[in-house]
Amino acid sequence: MTLLEVEGLRVTYGGVVAVRDVSLSLAAGEVLAVLGANGAGKTTTLLAVSGLVRAKAGIIRFDGQSLAGRSPEAIARQGIAHVPAGRGIFPGLTVADNLRMGLYGSGRDRGVDARSAIDEVLDTFPILRERRNQPAGTMSGGQQQQLAIGRALVQRPRLLLLDEMSMGLAPSIVADLFGLVATLKAQGIAIVMVEQFVGQALKVADRAVVLEQGSVVAAGAPAELSSDDIAAAYLGGGGAPEVTVRPAPAGAREHLAVSVSGSEARRLHALAAAQGRPVDDVLGDLLAGALSGDNEPGRRSSR
Ligand SMILES: Nc1ncnc2c1ncn2[C@@H]1O[C@H](COP(=O)(O)OP(=O)(O)OP(=O)(O)O)[C@@H](O)[C@H]1O
Ligand SMILES: [Mg+2]
Repeated sequence: MTLLEVEGLRVTYGGVVAVRDVSLSLAAGEVLAVLGANGAGKTTTLLAVSGLVRAKAGIIRFDGQSLAGRSPEAIARQGIAHVPAGRGIFPGLTVADNLRMGLYGSGRDRGVDARSAIDEVLDTFPILRERRNQPAGTMSGGQQQQLAIGRALVQRPRLLLLDEMSMGLAPSIVADLFGLVATLKAQGIAIVMVEQFVGQALKVADRAVVLEQGSVVAAGAPAELSSDDIAAAYLGGGGAPEVTVRPAPAGAREHLAVSVSGSEARRLHALAAAQGRPVDDVLGDLLAGALSGDNEPGRRSSR
């Protein structure tokens, strides 16, 4: 049964067309990966589904009913929970209070049901139980992401929207989060996942869509996507998975987290400042030079 159906979605911000024409659908209990370069319209698509931005055109149906004109609160009550990019937790509030905030959105903030929903989340994330009286902002990035997901789960959603849950986290924590996605799927929760960690996302997803400049340029089961489709998903700096479904195509750009010493980092920043370029670019050139046996850092030609 189709749970979520998006047809011909168009969203604009002032004069900027962020989403031009996006259609996608998702069955109950399925995981859909939404991939694409920076600015492709992934976040905006999720925001439109949860009613946080208004669609200019197109249809969004959940459980067969149009969501047009509904408030974000009404949409949350229907069973859609959104974990925004950057997590959106309240750093000054305790872990427990952040979880309670999740309940307000769903309109189920009182009584036994509310307490048991929070208890279930604390069972899923033992670290949150341990830290429940600690201000959320004092936890590690991975713990804060668990809290952000936990806050969505207290709503007992049928559909979970995850926007870049792995952003800025260490590989082992990212692997745990992907494991959690698989567990939630096994519990019957449908998930739309925006991810820069393309390879890992494709491992857990039933289907994927690739967006480019606000339009869907590829869609299908992971095995059906061509290497060109996957390259489009990487362009603009995709995450570098240690687990890849297929190797990234040669033309694709991967975003790698590297560890360098403090003095090397300072020299790198000084070099980047001298060239007036982002550190990532300079490091990429140095690495490309080293790998091709040419040590001269040169300007990377634009794609
Ligand atoms: N509040 C806003 N006001 C104006 N333009 C916006 C706003 N939010 C997004 N945009 C523009 O809309 C387009 C799509 O942005 P969106 O954030 O949906 O992309 P994304 O695929 O999530 O990118 P990223 O990978 O960088 O998160 C971009 O061109 C972006 O600059
Ligand atoms: Mg985004």
